[in-house]
Formats: sequence, C-alpha cells, structure tokens
Amino acid sequence: MAINWFPGHMHKARKEIKKVMPQMDLIIEVLDARIPFSSENPLVPALRGDTPLIKVLNKRDLADPEVTSQWQTWLEKERGVRAVTLTHNQRNEALDILKLAEAMTPTHDRQKSALRVMILGIPNVGKSTLINTLAGRPAAKTGNEPAVTRAQQAIKLPHNILLYDTPGFLWPKLSPEACGYRLAITGAIRSAVLDFEDVALFEADFLLAAYPKLVKARYGFEELPRDGLALMDGIAAKRRFFSRGGVPDLHKVSEVLLNEFRAGTLGRISLETPEMVERERRELEEAGE
Ligand code: G4P
Repeated sequence: MAINWFPGHMHKARKEIKKVMPQMDLIIEVLDARIPFSSENPLVPALRGDTPLIKVLNKRDLADPEVTSQWQTWLEKERGVRAVTLTHNQRNEALDILKLAEAMTPTHDRQKSALRVMILGIPNVGKSTLINTLAGRPAAKTGNEPAVTRAQQAIKLPHNILLYDTPGFLWPKLSPEACGYRLAITGAIRSAVLDFEDVALFEADFLLAAYPKLVKARYGFEELPRDGLALMDGIAAKRRFFSRGGVPDLHKVSEVLLNEFRAGTLGRISLETPEMVERERRELEEAGE
C-alpha cells in the first residue's frame, strides 16, 4: 500500500513549522475522535519540546463515546498534554478551549502581550470549522503561503489570544499500515490513493470484530457473516447489487460501507482504541521496522 506525500513538500512544511513553533506559547492539535492516533501529525511530538499542547478530539458526534473517553485518559499521560472533545456548532465549548489555554499558561501575562497559539491538523479533521467557530466568522482558509507570511495574518480571538494557522497540508501517520486504512475510511486520505475495495474490506472486517450488533442492525443479518468478505457479499445479496453474470458488485457495496460510516448512519464508531495502537506499535517494533 503506497501513499505518496511529496518529500519536498513535507521537508518545506517541517522547516517552516520548526521555525514558527518555538515562538508559540501553546499548540492546539485538532484530531479526528474516531482515529485520535492515526490523525496525529508526526511533527508535533518531534518539534513541540516543552510547549503545552491541547489535543481536540473533534467529530465526537461520530465516535464511540466510551472509546473517546479511553483516548482522553491515554493522551493525557503525555507531559503537558490536555485532551478535550468537541463537535461542530458548539461555540461555547470551543471557547472553553481558549480558557483551558489560559489555564495551561499561568506564567504568561496577557495584559502585557497576546498569547500566541498555533493550530494544526491533518486535512479534513475539522480545523477550518473550529477556527471559524472560534473567530465567530469565516476566517481565511489556509493556503500554501509560507508560515512567515501568514504569521502576520494571525486571527485575533477573545482573551487577547492570537491564533496562527499552520501552512499547507500536514500529512498523517502512515505507519503502522492500519493507520493508512483508517485514514482512508474516514476520508482523510483520498480513496483514489488506496484501493477502494481494500479499504471497505478493512472496514468490514473491523466492524464485524468490534461492532457486530451495529452491523446486524443496519444490514439486517440474522446471523453474523463469518468475515469481511462474507459481509460484503451479504450486503450485495440483500441490496441486490450484482454485476453482469450475477457477480456481487463489491464496488457498490464498498460505496455503501464507506459512505454510511462517514455519515454516521451505522452508529457511533471509533476505528481504533489505545489498546489496539499499543499492540500494533509493539508488533512493528518486534518486526524491527
Ligand atoms: P479541515 O479544515 O481540517 O480540512 O476540515 P473542515 O473544517 O473543512 O471540515 C471537514 C469536514 O468535516 C466538513 O464536512 C465539516 O463540515 C466536517 N466537520 C467538521 N467538524 C465536524 C464535527 O464535529 N462533526 C461532524 N460530523 N463533522 C464535522 P464536508 O462535508 O467536507 O463539508 P460541509 O459540506 O460540511 O461544508
């Protein structure tokens, strides 16, 4: 499974963030609550140093609440990190993030100078939505201009806070391999990069193992199919998705599985738990990668 993020582009973003990050008093990283590990940008732990960090688990309306709460506890084990959850159209809750930012920077005198906050997130996690909510108006969409140029276009927020948007596109975690699949399921990685049906099969296998009741309820199975492929065949049969010659139309089934997951039609589902990612990390280490 190959996903191409242009090395030159990644190098440039790293250089710019490395330059700007030390000037920041606090960082807000927006994550997708359904994949809080896979939607992290690897630059943050590498470049943050001692700067306090608020991880916003956004789109919590789509995620499994129990798993989200496990993630909050897990993420806060890291020094200087607080994890909060959020969903769009909750301005007061979004503004609470600013109060938390103040509480996490007690030595900063905001009468004297603005608190400088950098916000970042991989594409599609809802970063622009959050910026607009905080600003109370549509703020400029992040372009590809250098961070330095945009540093002069910081967004003024209440409580004397200046919000700096990050440059360009940030890439997600692409290892372990499961991260790529989870990012594709949520739509953070364009489906064209990965094989569409492979991604849906990954989802089908996961749903059967982690959310069998939701699968049964949504697709009307009396008995659970034995594996992901059988689930896909089963959906094709139930919905009469057949290609010529009566072959199950797995492309159509894939569309259904992915669209219904993304829209939340299947229910509130998290694609990874702290325990799963810890296991995957151990496996990767054991494999010497
Ligand atoms: P980005 O800047 O990080 O790339 O993300 P952006 O804010 O553009 O949001 C990406 C998509 O996620 C948008 O949907 C947005 O409405 C949706 N979104 C943001 N926050 C939440 C949330 O808390 N819950 C849910 N369920 N969705 C959220 P879209 O379909 O791409 O655009 P639109 O049709 O909504 O405008």
